[in-house]
Amino acid sequence: MSPFLLTRTLPEDVTDAALRADVRQGLTRTPKTLPPKWFYDAHGSELFELITQLPEYYPTRAEREILLARSGEIAAATGARTLIELGSGSSDKTRHLIDALTALHTYVPVDVSESALTGAGRALLAERPGLDVHALIADFTAGLTLPDTPGPRLLAFLGGTIGNLPPAERAVFLASVRALLAPGDVLLLGTDLVKDERVLVRAYDDAAGVTAAFNKNVLAVVNRELGADFDAGAFDHVALWDAGQEWIEMRLRARRALTVKIPALDLAVDFTAGEELRTEVSAKFRQDGVRAELSAAELELTHWWTDDEGRFALSLSVAR
Ligand code: AVJ
Repeated sequence: MSPFLLTRTLPEDVTDAALRADVRQGLTRTPKTLPPKWFYDAHGSELFELITQLPEYYPTRAEREILLARSGEIAAATGARTLIELGSGSSDKTRHLIDALTALHTYVPVDVSESALTGAGRALLAERPGLDVHALIADFTAGLTLPDTPGPRLLAFLGGTIGNLPPAERAVFLASVRALLAPGDVLLLGTDLVKDERVLVRAYDDAAGVTAAFNKNVLAVVNRELGADFDAGAFDHVALWDAGQEWIEMRLRARRALTVKIPALDLAVDFTAGEELRTEVSAKFRQDGVRAELSAAELELTHWWTDDEGRFALSLSVAR
């Protein structure tokens, strides 16, 4: 039996249909929106990697600090034989955790990017030759079927990506995560925390303009995939803190009135001067809120760790 299996549950045409639906829906409503998942083509994924290295973008470093300090405790608390990681990307931060999980039998990285999965899988197998790696090309927001692997299972969702879902979608997502687990299985969740507004806004509006380029990349994706004629230069990057919702919003603001043609949808979209297109929310959390959202999904918070500066949290919760 091969120790590295790759299962595709995401046919190319499904992705294409989803993009079309999201773009049509998002650009014909008021206010205009696009879901953040379309940032991550090859170029967008590279830009995101650069973001994680920016001095202003603290979440990746803060989360890595926690994982480095707490992987031993996580391993002891879970005794996991299967580790499932949603949105695994390069599996970079997870390496510490995998090293600490001495009982680990199978690693199941789940990502929409096939190249990220095969790259990460190969690197891992070189280090842990006995480990089974069953990679899944899948969209974890669209319902998952996991391979039959030994318990206890530890499901990791890192990076604060849960914050990219608005509250109602988070509830649906957490319920679907819970449905993948058996009682006693555990969720490891990364959440960015509420903090000083200036620190937050700077993290999403860096001096070098990398986040601005990342934001505008979604226009290039729509141009390439749907034949649209967005002029990225006609839009300004906007990052703002919504104190009521406690989330960061990224937007693209039209510098002038313009019309964008989207041939694949047989659609023309008008922007007024100054009109904004919302491309991302990134919610920031407090411990009580995380506990309550987990509890609503029948997950009981058992551990809460932050980095030294209290910027980011990792929580463990157990399926009831
Ligand atoms: C790591 C996907 C959660 O919301 O902070 C980074 C993505 N957007 N800069 C985040 C992102 C703008 C990011 N996630």
